[in-house]
Formats: sequence, structure tokens, C-alpha cells
Amino acid sequence: MKVRKAVIPVAGLGTRFLPATKAIPKEMLTIVDRPTIQYIVEEVVASGIDQIIFITSEGKSAIENHFDYNFHLDSVLREKKKIALGEELNNISNLIDIVSVRQKKPLGLGHAIWTARHVIGNEPFMVLLGDDLVISKTPCAKQLLNLFDDVGESIVAIQRVPSDETFQYGIVEGEENGRENTYKVTRMVEKPAPGTTDSDMAIIGRYILKPEIFDILDKTTPGHGGEIQLTDALLALTKKRAMYALEFDGTRYDAGDKMGYLKAILAYGLSHAEIGDSFKKYIKEIATTL
Ligand code: G1P
Repeated sequence: MKVRKAVIPVAGLGTRFLPATKAIPKEMLTIVDRPTIQYIVEEVVASGIDQIIFITSEGKSAIENHFDYNFHLDSVLREKKKIALGEELNNISNLIDIVSVRQKKPLGLGHAIWTARHVIGNEPFMVLLGDDLVISKTPCAKQLLNLFDDVGESIVAIQRVPSDETFQYGIVEGEENGRENTYKVTRMVEKPAPGTTDSDMAIIGRYILKPEIFDILDKTTPGHGGEIQLTDALLALTKKRAMYALEFDGTRYDAGDKMGYLKAILAYGLSHAEIGDSFKKYIKEIATTL
């Protein structure tokens, strides 16, 4: 069955970026010339998905407005004959069909995904976490979809992390299964205490999930940090069906972290069509003065 829908949870408070995120959602923080959430939406579009479901909360309407048609702005730009800019803005609102669902309480990532159950129904779907930006030749989401076409089971995207960082991630243990960069998941644990796993395979915010996950999430009790964890539900799913981990090709930036965010600005700035070359020149210049 084709994966047609992608869930993007955007309900989180963004406390790591306060005070910047006091009045604007963290997903609207800018990288060069677009908010971080637009990079995620563009990845979804480039991967051939038909619909996005935002899981939102209070104070997140700027995200919905960003992907909506802005009649007033459009008229002003037309009056000022800024046609190309107007078209660019309209293109954003025409990117893809978007639906929003409210997560009524901040009970965790697992609960946020469960909130989408009525909109998803009985079909496989993608999940993308807005903090994880991936620069790659083939969009990361598309790499997962390609594997899904082959295996037809749930998939998590992974990358290798140093052993002193595993406690920050959901960690997957798995065995090779003959496909390149792919592992059959045997165990997974959310944010393991140091020394409790030998695996360095960290879950990065891209998943394809079978709809059975909703019944499991329904019964998942709070785990790490007192929150309903998606990783705990995924572990339960592995007991019923096969699950795969894909070590994707590309570079991931944790835009939810100050250093990761700055690195992302640098990476997107350097490869930007309009300013990339002059930015590179500038970086070279200042590097000599550091
Ligand atoms: C979430 C997931 C975790 C995953 C991480 C990737 O954690 O729960 O399993 O490794 O995203 O970014 P969070 O970073 O929201 O605490």
C-alpha cells in the first residue's frame, strides 16, 4: 500500500530556544530565508507524499498561516508589481494539502502521533520530526519510502552516534539482513542510561509506521521523562511485526539544539543558490582571523 500521508508533530514548546521562542513557534525560526518547518515540508513534497498532518498546540498558528494563502500580502505585492515574490509565496501555500489536529495535552511524542489516528485511518504513514533537518541527494523521507516499497513493514531512520551521546536518542539494536545499510530491529530503548546498550544506532526523526501502532499507543503507559514515548510503542510493535532500521545517506542537523541550528545555517547558507558563493568567501576570510 502506498504511503500517502505524513504526520509532523509541531506541538512542542521549544524551551531550548527561549527567549527566541517566547512568542513564535520554534518551527518558525529561520534558516537563511525560510523557516525550519518549510525544509521539512519541502522534503515531504519532494518524496511524493500527498498530505501533511500537523499536530499542533496553542500558539502555533504562525505555522498554519505560513502555509496558507495570504490575500492581503498577495494584493499588496501585486500593487507594488512584485509579481515573482508574490508567486513564490503563493507556491508555498500550494505545496501540499495540509490538515491540522490539536494535541490537547503535552503527553509526549507517542501521544502526539496517536492524536492523528482518525486522520490516518488504516494505512501506513510517515512521521517527520521538525528538529531533524537532513541534507541529502535523495530526500531522507524518499529513502525510507524506497525501502518500504521493498519490505512493506515499519521503518525507522538511524544514524551512528558516539557512545557518550546515545542517552540523547532512541537507540536501536538490530541485525543485518542482507540489504545495504538496513537492519532488522531486535530491540529499542528511549534515551538509555550510559552503559546500558552497546549499540550506536540512534533514531533520527523519520519513520514509516504501520497503522497497528495506534492500538499499541492506546495502551502505552508513560516512559522516559514521564511521557508516552513513540519508541516504547515501536518496541511493542516489533513483537508483532518486522521492523527495519535504515542508515540513511545524508547529513542530519539537530535544528532543535543551538549548535545544531548554527551548523544548519552554515550548511544551508553555503549551498544557497543566491548567496552560497559569497558566503563561502566570507567564511574563508573570517576563518583566518579566528
Ligand atoms: C525524539 C525521539 C527519539 C529520537 C529523537 C531524534 O526525541 O523520542 O527517539 O532519537 O527524537 O531527534 P526528542 O529529541 O524529541 O527528545
